[in-house]
Amino acid sequence: VKGLVKVAEPLARYTTFRIGGPADVLVEPADEEDLARALAWAQERGVPVTLLGGGSNVLVPDEGLPGLVLRIGLDGIRWERPGDGGRRGVVVGAGTVLARLVHEAARRGCRGLEPCAGIPGTVGGALVMNAGTRDGSIGQVVDWVRVVEPGGQLAVWPREQCGFAYRSSRMQAEGIPVVAARLVLDPGDPQAILQEIRRHTAYRQRTQPLRYPNCGSVFKNPPGDASGRLIEACGLKGLRRGRAQISEQHANFIINLGGATAEDVLDLMTTAWRCVRDRFGVILEPEVRL
Ligand code: EPU
Repeated sequence: VKGLVKVAEPLARYTTFRIGGPADVLVEPADEEDLARALAWAQERGVPVTLLGGGSNVLVPDEGLPGLVLRIGLDGIRWERPGDGGRRGVVVGAGTVLARLVHEAARRGCRGLEPCAGIPGTVGGALVMNAGTRDGSIGQVVDWVRVVEPGGQLAVWPREQCGFAYRSSRMQAEGIPVVAARLVLDPGDPQAILQEIRRHTAYRQRTQPLRYPNCGSVFKNPPGDASGRLIEACGLKGLRRGRAQISEQHANFIINLGGATAEDVLDLMTTAWRCVRDRFGVILEPEVRL
């Protein structure tokens, strides 16, 4: 590969949780072809591959990750000219910081990414997990994504092929890397869009423990309910294991008080999962990638 290659690279610094042991080999591909090549190389040899974007929704084990960790840093935003009815296409690299795209869209008066305001991580990560809120998710504005199919072939998947669902996608289910995407956004008033963004960001800042390293929501919400509500009802807010804690502010967040291990976090997750099952008969599904 032409990109950066690091051996026995500690991954904690690549995750917002600040947790995780070393990658056998960490590769930061230089471009899409480079990534496709690295992937094909690993697949031919049966070397395990883990895809990493902004590291904001992942719990890396303390013992680290075997094989290849591919960090997808391909960034860039290319705005197209407004088309019919002022709708505007934008082609964006998977490694682009999502917040940057959200703000550029607002400044240009492009609507549709407001539910992504305040979400950490990259565009690629957001696409793979179909990030968003109750108000909508990124999959809704996708025209197509460019992916690397097994074998190392670059391919374009129209939205209908992406299998977007609540916090999931076909790319996630099949471990397919996204390298770029085209989104189509509706025209809107920049001031109104900015205000909407501020509302989302302020809500997060008010309700979530963002001062501590974390991985966002730990569990998906079960249909019609909220994991945070259920875990709080179990009386688990503030519970500590080692240096990890179920947030006092939001029960579906686990915070790293400094020096937490993946094992501490898994321990808290297991406790919450069991408690919610026994008390409410609800089986929580992790949202954080394990
Ligand atoms: N609640 C409690 N106790 C708590 C936390 C929440 O009772 O400790 C209640 C709240 O009062 C509210 C309900 O649970 O009635 C939902 O809480 P909240 O509005 O905080 O939203 P959430 O469902 O917990 C979702 C997303 C977040 C996103 C927020 C805000 C999921 C799994 N999470 O959280 O996304 O920021 O809405 O839009 O869908 C993420 O996915 O990583 C993430 C942070």
